[in-house]
Amino acid sequence: MSKPFYITTAIHYVNDVPHIGHIYENVTADVIARYRRMNGDDVYFLTGTDEHGQKIERTAAKKGISPIELADQVVAAHHANNARLQISNDDFIRTTQSRHRDGVYEIIRRIREKNPDDIYHGEHSGWYCQSEETFVPESQVTDGKCQDGHPVEMTTERNYFFRLSKYEKPLLDFYRANPEFVKPKGRFNEVISFVEAGLRDLSVSRTAIKWGIPFPGDEEHIIYVWLDALTNYISALGFGSADLSRYDKYWPADIHLIGKDIVRFHAVYWPAFLMAAGLPLPKSIVSHGFWLRDNVKISKSLGNVVRPDEVIDRYGAEAFRYYLSREMVFGQDSNYSDESFFTRYNAELANGIGNTISRASKMCETYFEGKTPPLSCDDNELKRAAEETIPVWTREMDQFAFQRALEAVWKFLDAVNGYIVSREPWRMFKENGADDALSRVLWNSLESLRLAWTMVAPFMPSLSAEALRRIGAGSEPPRVELLKWGLLPTNEPLVTGDALFPRIDFQTYVAETKNEGATVSEPIQDKKEEAQPAAPAATAVAAPAAEAVAETAKITIDDFFRADLRVAQILEAENVPKSKKLIRMKVTTGDSERQIVAGIATKYTPEELVGRKVVIVANLQPAKLMGIESNGMVLAASIDGEPSLVAVDQNVPNGTKVK
Ligand code: MSP
Repeated sequence: MSKPFYITTAIHYVNDVPHIGHIYENVTADVIARYRRMNGDDVYFLTGTDEHGQKIERTAAKKGISPIELADQVVAAHHANNARLQISNDDFIRTTQSRHRDGVYEIIRRIREKNPDDIYHGEHSGWYCQSEETFVPESQVTDGKCQDGHPVEMTTERNYFFRLSKYEKPLLDFYRANPEFVKPKGRFNEVISFVEAGLRDLSVSRTAIKWGIPFPGDEEHIIYVWLDALTNYISALGFGSADLSRYDKYWPADIHLIGKDIVRFHAVYWPAFLMAAGLPLPKSIVSHGFWLRDNVKISKSLGNVVRPDEVIDRYGAEAFRYYLSREMVFGQDSNYSDESFFTRYNAELANGIGNTISRASKMCETYFEGKTPPLSCDDNELKRAAEETIPVWTREMDQFAFQRALEAVWKFLDAVNGYIVSREPWRMFKENGADDALSRVLWNSLESLRLAWTMVAPFMPSLSAEALRRIGAGSEPPRVELLKWGLLPTNEPLVTGDALFPRIDFQTYVAETKNEGATVSEPIQDKKEEAQPAAPAATAVAAPAAEAVAETAKITIDDFFRADLRVAQILEAENVPKSKKLIRMKVTTGDSERQIVAGIATKYTPEELVGRKVVIVANLQPAKLMGIESNGMVLAASIDGEPSLVAVDQNVPNGTKVK
């Protein structure tokens, strides 16, 4: 029997179309939902929109439309956005739906029934923050502003109040008994301090606002937005309707996933409302950090809101999902820039996982007639690397440390690449044909890729399915049981296709889109020289042929540093027609690509060069070799005219300076 698992996002305000914060929250909830499904859970994943309140009333008025017209437009944008991001939500709740209103009436009815004094009619004067739609304690007001910098006004209201003060002790007892209730821990501590400082009763109705759910029995009043909004988590399950089957199955929620700004509402008010109504409390509140631009919180008034539509449309929602999950340390804030997206895309997707799969499958196409190799292998270094990686991935996924889960997979991919480079399957084939040893090497590589792509499935679901299909791993939905070495069938036909991640040239993107948000870094060649080490050159350079070295004129360290040596990765390679020696290559130094022509064909085939890391002289003046422009030089030792490429470890990032 599969275990019910209920996950929700915050419901998003409809005063504006979705931005990166909403996208991130939905993607993260989706990653968790897909991961739980991989574990066999019966997942119910809810997201939706928060459509009432003064802000929405005002925005609609400014646009000259009614609040519901505004909401309909924004909800359409949310649906489109969720569809293209492959958000696998089971339900989408709108607080303007009648099922939601029924749920809100039911929770108020239950509170009144169970604790008749908990909602009372009274008068309250205090500092009211229009922007947050909440009263702010005196202690948090400075110079007429709340802690978030919004203006506050002294306001007196005759309203319905919720007796929040009564729940101070029950909440603290609950927190003590449930130390994992709010994650991360630091945010939980803030909540506890807030409650320990004393809770004031909460006004739960407004008369100044028209756009909302009327208070039951007193239609002059509108229900306070947070009592309205928070109830979405149960109204979506049918709470307040005749059919409680979904409510009974999925409530209490396993995870309310929310941003750090609304933790208090979820960890203090919501549990108090539920306690008063005699309903079970959610199991956990998981809070994520904020996406910033230029280290500043994004907001409409600053005009720095990030809507990465162009990037998603051009380069794919899944690459973007990967980027969001890999870039942000879960729980902390992160800075968004188009450039950081492109850097990761090229390095980790195009040249990383994408290149490895096309390389390994191409070799199987050539050496094993387009099939997975005929012999599997049960004892090798990749198997051991996989068996180290899988538990790390699992542990990090369980802790929402997605960046670390992905890091573990990419470390494993580096091992796969290193394995291919060190085994030199192209040489094995040249020397012994498609023998058993070659079969094992390539089967191990594909089997590793099967595991890597399965671990990547929650982040890039369709691409993962496509990659697995291409390497003959079948089309079963991803499950954690498949994370076991040895399951890739032998002699299974491979499926060919275009590159999963075509490389992107960031400068071209900027030129084509004139994207204002894009920030361009200087190309490597233009960078100022980095600080030079104090050590003299002689101690840093090995002396392979003492005599030859002795004959060479000495240079100063400054002379040496005039050469900009960089680690580069070969992306493409082909023989130059009519030349026995020359190979034309495309190499990347991380944030830029270039063409280099090198006289290495007597030793290397283009096939074995692709993916390899080399050292290049990056600031060499361009030269033409047989009419082809070469921008830079690849370093190689020369043994009687036979080149031997200078090698660096496969895991050294492209563009790293060599000195
Ligand atoms: N409507 C309320 C939530 C009610 S839940 C019962 C709300 N809406 S919101 O549209 O302002 O925010 C929706 C979610 O997006 C929140 O969890 C919020 O923290 C998150 N984000 C808003 N801006 C964000 C970033 N810049 N970065 C990451 N997430 C952020 O609050």
